[in-house]
Amino acid sequence: MTMDKNKPQPPQGGLSCQHLTKISALNDRDLQYLLDLGQYYHQLINTGQELPQVLSGKSQANVFFENSTRTSLSFELAGKKLGAGGVTLSVATSSVNKGEELRDTVQTIGAMGVDAMVVRNKAHDTAQFIADTFEATNIPCAVINAGEGSRAHPTQALLDAVTILNSLGRSATDRLDDISLAICGDIRHSRVAGSNITLLSRLGAKIHLVAPKEYMPAESEFPEAIRFHSLKSGLTDCQFIMGLRCQFERMSDGVALNAETFYNKYGLNHQTIKLAAPGAKVLHPGPMNRGVEIDGALADDRSVSLILDQVANGVVTRMAVLEAFTTGTKS
Ligand code: CP
Repeated sequence: MTMDKNKPQPPQGGLSCQHLTKISALNDRDLQYLLDLGQYYHQLINTGQELPQVLSGKSQANVFFENSTRTSLSFELAGKKLGAGGVTLSVATSSVNKGEELRDTVQTIGAMGVDAMVVRNKAHDTAQFIADTFEATNIPCAVINAGEGSRAHPTQALLDAVTILNSLGRSATDRLDDISLAICGDIRHSRVAGSNITLLSRLGAKIHLVAPKEYMPAESEFPEAIRFHSLKSGLTDCQFIMGLRCQFERMSDGVALNAETFYNKYGLNHQTIKLAAPGAKVLHPGPMNRGVEIDGALADDRSVSLILDQVANGVVTRMAVLEAFTTGTKS
């Protein structure tokens, strides 16, 4: 295979971290490399070029203790497109149901010799726990956080950044200092919001949080963002609007609002997005609940909605992540 001179190269000396546990684990050079590599794969796929089989001989294990459609399938597809072998733990039929601890399950899979473990779990800091376990037991496997708790979903934030940069016609080296993004809905229980606020504000974007008090995160969190309690004030001047699902399954704190009441005040539709900057684009990480946080007609309107672009960019971004963390880290 010939060397592609346009292909982004890892930072000199490799990535600064062995595992992708959260956005703040990445330094600026890591971040730029991942965004750049994601855009590179986006370009190769969009122009129908052959994909380099850079992960031939590598294997990934997808270990999802929580439901997923987009993240699990896009990681699986991403690995396959680059030649990796993959296995998926079927949690429902695994020995997890015989009382096996998380530590033992992941060590068992790690000891089989996989190069990357892609993990989703409802507990905070699961990816870091597994990374620490692997380091303590000398298991050379990269841990990739595929969404955990209500705090972190780093690959979702990376794919959202790629989506926003692509929609503006910008490259990974460009910044977002002139861009405002409104994140609307159930921010308090959202792992996507946490990673996006950290990443997009680092790229320079101004972040508006738009939510009722029940769905607003604690005052101590996200000091870099500005808070609003109405779409009218929160969407003003925003070029991007991100809707979030009401994550009822994480609401153990009795704050759930009636879906109809919520939609009437915070629902995104063709009418309410007129409150934002002209030409504003709409994102949603999915899964979405049509008629609760977003109107179906808006979600399906591809002149405004970037939702399916996010899905497509999920594959290329996860190709970049798998390549970077299985071939581009310091030894
Ligand atoms: N956005 C996201 O994480 O979707 P899934 O839960 O379907 O993976």
